[in-house]
This record gives sequence, C-alpha cells and structure tokens, in this order.
Amino acid sequence: ETTRSYEFNIQLQNVTRLCHTRSMVTVNGKFPGPRIVAREGDRLLIKVTNHVSNNITIHWHGIKQLRSGWADGPAYITQCPIQTGQTYVYNYTVVGQRGTLFWHAHISWLRASVYGPLIILPKLNVPYPFIKPYKEVPIIFGEWFNNDPEAIISQATQTGGGPNVSDAYTFNGLPGPLYNCSAKDTFRLKVKSGKTYLLRLINAALNDELFFSIANHTLTIVEADAVYVKPFDTKTIILAPGQTTNVLLKTKSRFPNATFLMSARPYVTGQGTFDNSTVAGILEYETSIHMKNLPLFKPILPSLNDTSFVSKFSNRLRSLGSVEFPANVPQKIDKKLFFTIGLGTAPCAQNQTCQGPNGTRFAASINNVSFVQPSVALLQSHFYNKSEGVYSPYFPINPLHWFNYTGTPPNNTFVSNGTKLMVLPFNTSVELVLQDTSILGAESHPLHLHGFNFFVVGQGFGNYNPKKDPKNFNLVDPIERNTVGVPSGGWVAIRFLADNPGVWFMHCHLEVHTGWGLKMAWLVLDGKLPNQKLLPPPADLPKC
Ligand code: C2O
Repeated sequence: ETTRSYEFNIQLQNVTRLCHTRSMVTVNGKFPGPRIVAREGDRLLIKVTNHVSNNITIHWHGIKQLRSGWADGPAYITQCPIQTGQTYVYNYTVVGQRGTLFWHAHISWLRASVYGPLIILPKLNVPYPFIKPYKEVPIIFGEWFNNDPEAIISQATQTGGGPNVSDAYTFNGLPGPLYNCSAKDTFRLKVKSGKTYLLRLINAALNDELFFSIANHTLTIVEADAVYVKPFDTKTIILAPGQTTNVLLKTKSRFPNATFLMSARPYVTGQGTFDNSTVAGILEYETSIHMKNLPLFKPILPSLNDTSFVSKFSNRLRSLGSVEFPANVPQKIDKKLFFTIGLGTAPCAQNQTCQGPNGTRFAASINNVSFVQPSVALLQSHFYNKSEGVYSPYFPINPLHWFNYTGTPPNNTFVSNGTKLMVLPFNTSVELVLQDTSILGAESHPLHLHGFNFFVVGQGFGNYNPKKDPKNFNLVDPIERNTVGVPSGGWVAIRFLADNPGVWFMHCHLEVHTGWGLKMAWLVLDGKLPNQKLLPPPADLPKC
C-alpha cells in the first residue's frame, strides 16, 4: 500500500475541434484530463489548485469514500467549492475496490471539459479473474461543445429544450472522421494480431447514453462500474453517463487486410431534439508490409430508440459472485422505499424567466421534491449540528399521491422545491424502487449513488407491483454498480447496506436533469464503534 500524489492545476486552455477554438476550463491544460492510476488499498492525495474564475470541485466517481466523505466532491453536498486562488487536497484511501472509474468536476456543467480516467489496479500480485491482457487501453466517451456549455445550461434549464446541446461526441477528446473538419482528430487504436486487449470504457458524456461497437469484432464484458461480472460476449454495449465497463477485445489471429471503425451514438427514449451524431475511432492492425487503401469496415449500431436491446443487455449483467468476489446482496431489509422520478413543472421564482407551461419552470423531481442546492455544504451543516435553515431531515418515503405512473399523466404535475435528506441509521439495509413516470414523456434516467455500490435486484416495465415483482428479484448474483439506468416507462429495484457514514448525493447523471432538480441526498449516521464514524474534516476544507 502506497501513497500516490497528483497535482491538478485548474487552468484555461484553448482547444480546437471541428474548426472551432474555445478557451476551456481544464486540468493541467489537458482535454480530457490526466489519468489517475492507483492500486486497491492505496492512499490518494490529489492537490487541486484553482487558477480560473469559476468555482470548482472534483468528484471521484464510484469511489466509496469509506468515512472520508469530505473528499467526495459534489459542490454544496460534501464541500464548499474551491474558489479562485484556493487549494484543496483530496485525501482518500481506496478500500475494497478495483477497476475502471473516472473523475470529473462536480459543479455546474464544468465536467464537460474537466474529466479523466481513474484506474484502480488490483493489489500487487493479485491477478484479474480473466486472461491477462496484452495491453490495457482506456477509452473515455465525452462531448464537444462549439460554444460554452456554461452558457447553454441556463438556457436548457429555462426552456426545457432537450439535451441537444453538444456538437459532437468524442473518444478520448476526439470526435473522429464522421464530423466535418475532424478527420485529423481521430482516436486510433493500433493493435497486433492474435492478442487480447482490455478496453476500459467510460461514459463521461453529459447528457447521452451511448451504444458502442467495433466493426467485425466481439467484445467480452468482464467488469461493470469497477465490479467483476460473469463474462459474456456481445457485439455492442450500452453505457449510460456515469457508467464504466471493461471489455476484452481479442484481435484477429492474422493480419486482416482491413481497418475497422469503432463508433458510438446515443440511445434516446424521450421526445424532443437530441444529438444523433456518431463518434468514430479507428482500429488498425500493425503489419510490417506497408499497405495503402485497406477497406474500412463499419459497425452496425442499434437504432436510436432500441429499448429492447438495452433491457436485454442489462439483464445479462450478473455479478461474478465467486469465492474471492462474492455478491453480498442484503437479504434482510430494514427499510423499503419507493421513489418516483420524473420530469414536471414547478412554481417559478420571482427573479426567474420560466418558459414551462402556464408560466411554470421545468423541473425534475424525486417523490415530487425538486432538489434545491443549499448555499452551504450539507456535510458540514450535519457535522457541526447546524441543519437549521439548511436542510430538512424528512425526505418523503413515498410519492405524494398514487397515480398510474406510466399511463396518462395527472392534471397536476406540480412539484415542490426543497432540500430534504433521507436519514438512515448506520448499517440500515435499504431496498429502493425507482419508478420512472410519464410526466412530460417517459425517459430513461441513469441514477447515480455516491458513497456506495448497490445491487440491481429487479427491473421491469410499467408500474412496479409490490405484491408480484419482488418474487422475481435476483438475490443471488445481481449486478453490483454505482449508476443504473431506470428504464423509460419502467422501474428498477436496488439494495444497499448503509455502512458508510456521511452525506451522499443521488442524482440523474444526465446533466440537464440534474440541473432541473432530479437529485436528493442521504444522511447516514455514525455507528457506535470508533471505526464506524465519519472522520473529522481536513484543515484545508474550503469555506463557503
Ligand atoms: Cu459522476 Cu454525482 O457524479
């Protein structure tokens, strides 16, 4: 076990893509940002210094932050932002996790340009539970904006216009040859014949779930959200923003006399406008003979709204559940919760311009509460017993009233604004059903939980049936992850053990929905034993 130190300088950098040059907020001038590599058990010290005029925070997406919530990163949830000229050292130990994760800015829409891979290798001399790859290659999916995404967000939150806001998708920051003025900005993966490569795939896009495929090649899924899975073969994968997956790519045994496109494009379930463009990279085989004009093969991706592919794919994902890597699914449940998630409308504040129906504002909510970001950090308020006027500890355990969630929406789609926390005693085992609703059109939502992994024990379409559906729950080898797609017009059931004291954010990882309020937070109380308590805040924790 080692301590690994990194320095992140938040600075502006001019970046050019699609013949547009934009000054962007970056880490160390890099787009995407630097790669962090550590081993399970290591301590990470990442010193972040802010040299730009925007406030910033960094989140280590998928890291459980056992008792170290001060290093989690979501602005106004676990910390106040790092202001211009300030420095904060994120200090945490990676406990019981290994795999592909990523880090990103967690304030406003800055994660559009502030993100990078976070790779946790197994402990020294501990092998993977699959063939040792010849090489490992991270491929991080992102979005490119010709204009400043910070300006787009205020517009998107007001108009409720769909998330058609970026100009291209990218692989490692490169849009690829299918866009205008972009051929030279293409991600190229050079491979040798007859080898096994481990691709570490990360979806860091702001607003789109993406299909991914490589022409004429099969991918073997071995890991999802930094948890080993039962391996299976597929031509195409689906990855929601916030999700990561490792796949094995076995290259052809002989030089194939061809090159192959790898590409990604969105899976879309809502109505409205969206970006349906395609990012492409090139897989090329090394050879000693120089060959010109090799044929180029293109993959066939599912159609934009292929929900049947998506649900089949997610049903195939199972925890490895081996002796070394067991699936510790909570069997006895202390708290059963039912949350509706959806889009709707909320009262318009006086100083706002609201373009929703009848002068309302577009809102997204969980159990009819549209989350309002406080102006001080929730974790500090909790730790210093100063919750008065900051948050309410009474998050509703059920929706306000029952309706046919996936049928005709009720006349009254109003939600309330609030900063409410769901309080859990230490070690509570939770079962949470997330039900999508049809208000303003059903849409799939990738829900992300900070501080924990959870098990996806069930999912289905239509309204969740509390009498029938639990009978089909998988309590043996369900997939364990940190971000799950709640199907459009359907539900998922998850289980987790609240064994990590702190304040933990849960939100839709589609940035436009987070902006509308599709988020809430959990407050997990300290346990009795000394090692069940939240650590004290670090001395350099930023102040609001
Ligand atoms: Cu990757 Cu709260 O986010």
